[in-house]
Amino acid sequence: MNAKQMAGYAAAEYVKDGMLVGIGTGSTAHYLIERLGQRVAEGLKIKCVSTSIESSEYAESLGIELLDTNDVPVLDICIDGVDEVDPKFNGIKGGGGALFREKIVASTAKFNIWVCDDSKLVDKIYAFGLPVEVAPFGYKHAQKKLEEAGFVPKLRMRDGEIFVTNNHNYIFDTDYTNTKFGDDYQAMADFLKGTLGILETGFFLNTTDLIISAGENGITKIENPNK
Ligand code: 5RP
Repeated sequence: MNAKQMAGYAAAEYVKDGMLVGIGTGSTAHYLIERLGQRVAEGLKIKCVSTSIESSEYAESLGIELLDTNDVPVLDICIDGVDEVDPKFNGIKGGGGALFREKIVASTAKFNIWVCDDSKLVDKIYAFGLPVEVAPFGYKHAQKKLEEAGFVPKLRMRDGEIFVTNNHNYIFDTDYTNTKFGDDYQAMADFLKGTLGILETGFFLNTTDLIISAGENGITKIENPNK
């Protein structure tokens, strides 16, 4: 079993009969869904809300029942991947472009778990820059506002075309290392969210209750003391 599979499978054990479950997106969440599918085949009764078309399709193929997030005010648990997380539980998500749906679904859960391999545990979050979801209409105006504040937003491309999210929006992968906000991620998030056209950022600040990470030394569980 590779590290992502170990983490995804370990997190699946937190899911109990009768639960409403948020399922994340990405290569680690893939293993979570795989294990949940196995457990459903063995008789586990759950209903899930998915964070992306990709995860929905995979879950459905395994016989996992899905609900619309609008029909589920509260989830028992949400399990998702993460791109990077620091010791203060500041996380960056959105490498897979699902940050908007991931944030909405996570916000409805009573308990959130992130699953990852140990490489995601860092002293300082940065990864490849901060994913920021922006409306296509007038996105260059938002880009200019960000640049004026010192951010360096780079439009995400895939196969030579602009990457389009499940919500039909674009993503800026945004360098934030040279802004007036220093390392104040909350101030950056507030600024970005206050910029016309920006819909959501990949900052997930102190939002998770538990991290399940895996690597050479096996599984590490890190509880968030502030939750
Ligand atoms: C998708 C995400 C993913 O959870 C994040 O990119 C981690 O992915 P992976 O498990 O493949 O490393 O935020 O938007």
